[in-house]
Amino acid sequence: MSEPSPSLDRTAVADIRPPPRHLAIIMDGNGRWAKARGLPRAMGHREGVEALRRTVDAAAALGIAHLTVFSFSTENWNRPQAEIDALFDLLRMFVKRDLAQLHRDGVRIRIIGSRHGLSPDILELIDEAVSLTRNNTRLTLNIAFNYGGRGEIVAAAQSLARAVQNGEMKPEDIDEKAVSRLLWTSESPDPDLVIRTSGELRLSNFLLWSGAYSELMFMDIWWPDFNREWMEKAIDAFRCRDRRFGGLGV
Ligand code: IPE
Ligand code: IPE
Ligand code: MG
Repeated sequence: MSEPSPSLDRTAVADIRPPPRHLAIIMDGNGRWAKARGLPRAMGHREGVEALRRTVDAAAALGIAHLTVFSFSTENWNRPQAEIDALFDLLRMFVKRDLAQLHRDGVRIRIIGSRHGLSPDILELIDEAVSLTRNNTRLTLNIAFNYGGRGEIVAAAQSLARAVQNGEMKPEDIDEKAVSRLLWTSESPDPDLVIRTSGELRLSNFLLWSGAYSELMFMDIWWPDFNREWMEKAIDAFRCRDRRFGGLGV
C-alpha cells in the first residue's frame, strides 16, 4: 500500500482532514485467496461476499456516506460460464439474505451498470432492493454489477446525442456537468479514494470518468481478507494525502 508523503506530520493532518465522503473499492483477489488454500474459486467468491458485508458495516460506522464496490465487470463475461453462474448466485444470495438488515441499518442500495444480459429474476431482485431502500440516508451503497467505465460514458454520450437530435439541447450545451449528470454514478459525488486489493496496479475499467481525481490505493491483500482494520489504515493514509486538483495545494 502506498504510504503518505513523509513531509507531512501524520497525526496533525489526520486530525484535521475529513475521511473520504465517497470510497470506492475494486474487490479483487477472491480466486487467488481460494487457490492459496487449495479451495475452488467459488469459495473465494463466497468469502468475498462476507468481506463485503463487513465492509458495508465498517463504512457506515466510520462515517463514510457513499461506498461503491466493483462486483462484476462487463469484461468478466469472458470467464467460464460456471464461474459467471456462481457469481450471479452470490448476488442473489447477498440480496435475499442481507436486504432486510441493510434496510434496517439505513443503507440505500443502488446498482450501477448495464441491464443488458442480466436475467429477468436478477433484474427483479435488484429493482426490489433499490426501491425498498431508496429513502435511506445513512450510507449509499453503489454495487457496480455488469459495470464498465467506458460503457458508462458511451451510454451518457448516446443520451446526449438523442437529446440533441430531439432538439432538447445544442451540441455546445454539452459540458462536463451534462455528462456527469447522465452517469450511472450521478447520485454520488466523485469518489475521493479508490482502493484495489490483490496487488494488481490497474483500474480494469472502473469509474473512468468520476475517478479522474480520486486518490488511488493498492493493497497487497486478497479481497476476502479485507476488514475494518484495513479500511481504517486506508482512511488514515488517505487523510495524509495532499490533494491538489492541479493547483498548488495548501
Ligand atoms: C474478484 O476476484 C471478483 C471478481 C472479479 C468477480 P477475482 O475472481 O478476480 O480473483 P483473482 O483476481 O482471480 O484472484
Ligand atoms: C476487476 O477485477 C473487476 C472486479 C473486481 C469485479 P478483475 O479480476 O476482473 O480484473 P483484471 O482482469 O485482473 O484486470
Ligand atoms: Mg481478479
